[in-house]
Amino acid sequence: MKGIILAGGKGTRLYPSTAVVSKQLLPIYDKPLIYYPLSVLLLAGIREILVISTPQDTPNYKRLLGDGERLGLNIQYAVQETPRGLADAFILGADFIGEDSVCLVLGDNVFYGQGLTLYLRNAQEQIKNGGASIFGYPVGNPREFGVVEFDENNKVISIEEKPARPKSNYAVPGLYFYDPHVVDIARKVEPSPRGEIEITAVNNAYLAEGSLNVTLLGRGVAWLDTGSPKGMLKASQFVQTVQDMQGFYISCIEEIAWRRGFISTEQLHRLGEELSMTAYGQYILSLSEDIL
Ligand code: G1P
Repeated sequence: MKGIILAGGKGTRLYPSTAVVSKQLLPIYDKPLIYYPLSVLLLAGIREILVISTPQDTPNYKRLLGDGERLGLNIQYAVQETPRGLADAFILGADFIGEDSVCLVLGDNVFYGQGLTLYLRNAQEQIKNGGASIFGYPVGNPREFGVVEFDENNKVISIEEKPARPKSNYAVPGLYFYDPHVVDIARKVEPSPRGEIEITAVNNAYLAEGSLNVTLLGRGVAWLDTGSPKGMLKASQFVQTVQDMQGFYISCIEEIAWRRGFISTEQLHRLGEELSMTAYGQYILSLSEDIL
């Protein structure tokens, strides 16, 4: 399975902080926002990753993540000249996806929780023979998201993008699993009234085919909002609190790459040494020193 991180957009809701810096490069507590969705792909065991961003920001993502080799990954880049919508990721990534299934994660979506890995594994399993797998998560402000509608038997009957009158409070988080057919589906999507080819239209196409799985995420998983300065601050505080209390880091990509067996303990140690002036680097060193 391939992975795509979409890190485009103008981040206008965070101006002036994002006037010259891509939103997904801003910190959530102690690491860039993009580390969080990247860690989700690593937890899913995905090592071939395409990062899509704007012409201005792509060089910065390359400086941050390189070709991924240091983490045992293969990271490639694609430039989105204009923000045409989330489904454009599959058109831009068509050659990269090839005949594989693909997981798309939005570069500003933060997930955390013990049960997450199991959800990721189940979603991959669900689409082994084709189809799509997405999630639903209860929110207080469904108008700001794609929203799932259920019938009286809890069967999904529609997904609406930013509805004025949401039919449930279950939002669709920015984490989607698709079979390779998604490229053709995305190519057929017509732009919405806001001029974008919507991921919701892709999901509705799978729903119409009867091959859309929607799993409701339980309370064991946190999906943190980064859509406003307040959301960014709260997410930072959440990460700080969990890390300070538990001693385990959230979305430490070096740790996950190591635990997944993508890099050796010696490689992990070297990565820790490079960052040894920070608590983040000391954490990485402590992991490797326990073993070495
Ligand atoms: C996008 C999607 C929406 C989804 C949300 C999750 O919205 O269009 O369906 O619920 O991401 O973060 P955007 O953040 O682009 O407004």
